[in-house]
Amino acid sequence: MVRKIVKYPDPVLEKPGEPVTEFDDELQKLVDDMFESMYAAKGIGLAAPQIGLSRRLTVIDLSVKERPEDKIVLVNPEIIHKAGKQYEEEGCLSLPEIREKVSRAAKVKVRAQDVKGEWFEVEGEELLARAFQHEIDHLDGILFFRRVSALKRDLILRQIRKMQKAGEW
Ligand code: NI
Repeated sequence: MVRKIVKYPDPVLEKPGEPVTEFDDELQKLVDDMFESMYAAKGIGLAAPQIGLSRRLTVIDLSVKERPEDKIVLVNPEIIHKAGKQYEEEGCLSLPEIREKVSRAAKVKVRAQDVKGEWFEVEGEELLARAFQHEIDHLDGILFFRRVSALKRDLILRQIRKMQKAGEW
């Protein structure tokens, strides 16, 4: 089922998610819904708060449905290692049409649980490292425009207000 993706300024987006504790059929169903919703929106990552659920769960697929082996589910993820720097443009399904360069680690290692509750580690670099950091930020209630300069953030907020007024948000 495709869920509605919530947009800024919905407060659920800026609140840290609760840890996932039940690894049952309902969680599997939620994960399936999140992939479906993400593909419908043509995104490469989606975090549970973006469908209004304040939980530490995110899905990522850089291939956008092309390669099933690229599907990643992170439950209760933590970044356990960061290295290097990258500075690239990001977007977010909860901030449609907004794009800005964000400074991130170039390479990260993440520890997370899978949909069955098993712990695993996964490494990513470049775009995947950025997706991990962007999505895990969502679970901490941090939108990417919190990671740009105050000047750029003001411009983004002004752009959003303009779109809201025009009924385009
Ligand atoms: Ni996002």
